[in-house]
Amino acid sequence: MIPGWSRSRLATTIGSLTLAFTLGSGCGGGKGTEPPPPPPPPPNPDQVKLLVPGFPAIVQPSDNLATHQGVALGRRLFYDPRLSLNNSQSCGSCHAPAFAFSDHGRRFSLGAEGQVGDRNSPALVNLAWSGNVFWNGRAEHIEAQALQPVENPIEMMEQWPRVVAKLAADPAYPPLFRAAFGDDEVTADRAVKAIAQFERTLLSYNSKYDRILRGEESFTPGEERGYNMFFTEKADCFHCHVDYLFTDYGFHDVGLDNPPERGRAEVTNRPEDIGRHKVPTLRNVVFSAPYMHDGRFATLRDVIDHYNRGGAGTPNQSPFVHFGRGLNLTDQDKQDLLDFILTLTDSSFVTNPAFQDPFVDGLPSR
Ligand code: HEC
Ligand code: HEC
Repeated sequence: MIPGWSRSRLATTIGSLTLAFTLGSGCGGGKGTEPPPPPPPPPNPDQVKLLVPGFPAIVQPSDNLATHQGVALGRRLFYDPRLSLNNSQSCGSCHAPAFAFSDHGRRFSLGAEGQVGDRNSPALVNLAWSGNVFWNGRAEHIEAQALQPVENPIEMMEQWPRVVAKLAADPAYPPLFRAAFGDDEVTADRAVKAIAQFERTLLSYNSKYDRILRGEESFTPGEERGYNMFFTEKADCFHCHVDYLFTDYGFHDVGLDNPPERGRAEVTNRPEDIGRHKVPTLRNVVFSAPYMHDGRFATLRDVIDHYNRGGAGTPNQSPFVHFGRGLNLTDQDKQDLLDFILTLTDSSFVTNPAFQDPFVDGLPSR
């Protein structure tokens, strides 16, 4: 048997080979005839089906399709402090499941030696649909992203060759790399691929809002008023926090100044990108306070007040944030809008056992 191939997969392959042979001889089979196209590869039974009914299709990179083994390895690496200097910090230290994978309510994260950053740790929710990541989008995809925190001097402060040596020296890891990638070799490229596979499984689709869409529950009158404001010009949130993912995964300037920031222009150098930041999803946003790229707002109320004022009129402020006139929301309107946003809360996401830290007292428990 070919290692890793199940009996039924072999049977399918043999079946299609026979078919191809018959077709070939039917065309004459002589010299000069085109060989029949190779049969399509059999489906990999280990592949994780990333599919949420009703949501847009998830497109995974063709060289990193998620498998159960890859996700299990990625989960372990995500929570392994050996990715940092002095083995003090894992990805999960700043991206904790109970906080929708943001940093424990902290405005700025602390690095491996307690140094303070200047960006709020974003929630990691439904990244499977995301293009560019980081607030300024400097990584094109989550595979590229995962390389960065390990060597970032204000984050994990470690070096990949040393991480690879630490992991390869742990007898538990080489077999896990073999299961995920075919042989025992531990590499940085494989590690970040596995982490990205795990991150793509962090899917949230079971909020009250989803149950309402599925006809299983209904809005309270206040939530429904909030829903109508959110999706019309009244509050005008929907142009950027687009249904169903509640982000367009694009970059916009919502009129935050003090200090004005370059944002997306740090990457593109284009003047029209100054002040633009990545649109965060609003799914599970209740768990990931404080808010905005610099965590300047402590509560969702503060965020709503910001939009209600209409922004500071920064040079690239989006017309959907109504500079000058604001939104004229009453206190009741603000409460209704908040009540609607809270219907995007999915408690099963933050408590999902498959997402939690597998290490207990330094040893994997599951
Ligand atoms: C010291 C805290 C800290 C650690 C450790 C850390 N992160 Fe982050 N993470 C952040 C902060 C802060 C940002 C935002 C930085 C920015 O945008 O400039 C971020 C951004 C991200 C993003 C971008 C999300 C988006 O929607 O744009 C992903 C994905 C991510 N981190 C995954 C990881 C992974 C994987 C690891 C481990 C290899 C990790 N992080 C380790 C704090 C941390
Ligand atoms: C022009 C696009 C746009 C519009 C319109 C918009 N947002 Fe945002 N929203 C963003 C961007 C971009 C950010 C991140 C801004 C930053 O950090 O600089 C954001 C951040 C947020 C956050 C913070 C989330 C977090 O994880 O930090 C909340 C909450 C939010 N918006 C709610 C709303 C509501 C409610 C409305 C309607 C009243 C609205 N937004 C309208 C683009 C928009």
